[in-house]
Amino acid sequence: MNKRLERLYSYIPDGLGVADVGTDHGYLPAALAQRGYRGNIFASDIRKGPLRAAVQTAQKTGVEEKIRFLLCDGLDLCPPEELDTIVIAGMGGDTICGILDRAEWCMDRRYTLILQPMTRAEVLRYWLVYNEFEILQEDLVEDGGEIYSLFIARFGGVTRLSDAELYTGSWPLIREDPLFPAFLRGQIRRFEKAAAGLRKDGRPEAAGRLRVYEQILRELKEMENHEDR
Ligand SMILES: C[S@@+](CC[C@H](N)C(=O)[O-])C[C@H]1O[C@@H](n2cnc3c(N)ncnc32)[C@H](O)[C@@H]1O
Repeated sequence: MNKRLERLYSYIPDGLGVADVGTDHGYLPAALAQRGYRGNIFASDIRKGPLRAAVQTAQKTGVEEKIRFLLCDGLDLCPPEELDTIVIAGMGGDTICGILDRAEWCMDRRYTLILQPMTRAEVLRYWLVYNEFEILQEDLVEDGGEIYSLFIARFGGVTRLSDAELYTGSWPLIREDPLFPAFLRGQIRRFEKAAAGLRKDGRPEAAGRLRVYEQILRELKEMENHEDR
């Protein structure tokens, strides 16, 4: 497993069961089974090819009997009463929102969600806050030269995030992360570039977006100034 998957693995507590949604090669469930996870292990994927690859990974390590492979959209075939941990990683934040939207049962405090969007983490954070999930932990993980957000959420709490924190994660939770300064610089560069583009765009709707981006930039830079002290 790569560093990113190892990090995801490290968050999975022993418990009733875990579902790895969008498992692809199935490395995470195979590692769980191999390393002695005692609960139920589900590996789901919406496509046949990746699920077949997941079965092969499990066969190679002799753990296929310990994993239930589900060909389905998101959590559609996962039995809610047989698990307490849900991992959804390696896809866009909007896709993850779509998966959670289809599984209303995960809006229950008994489930811990371990989420790692590759893009549009802000959309997913907004979805979680809007749907009354608490974001309990924020973490950054490097993979192939990119830094990605990883967070843990549970239904039934309050998380308040500013517009900038939708992009960075809750500042109190993320500010001590060793990767945070580099991540923050990346976000600032991204918003500066977007704002420069909007300044050249003469349309009225661009002006509204620009105001929002400038506000986010101010907040990101305040975070950076605090980091420098
Ligand atoms: C890039 S892979 C990520 C694999 C692994 N989770 C990881 O983090 O490395 C994304 C996988 O998600 C699957 N996928 C995309 N949308 C899905 C959905 N709605 N339900 C289940 N699987 C989905 C894709 O078929 C693909 O195998």
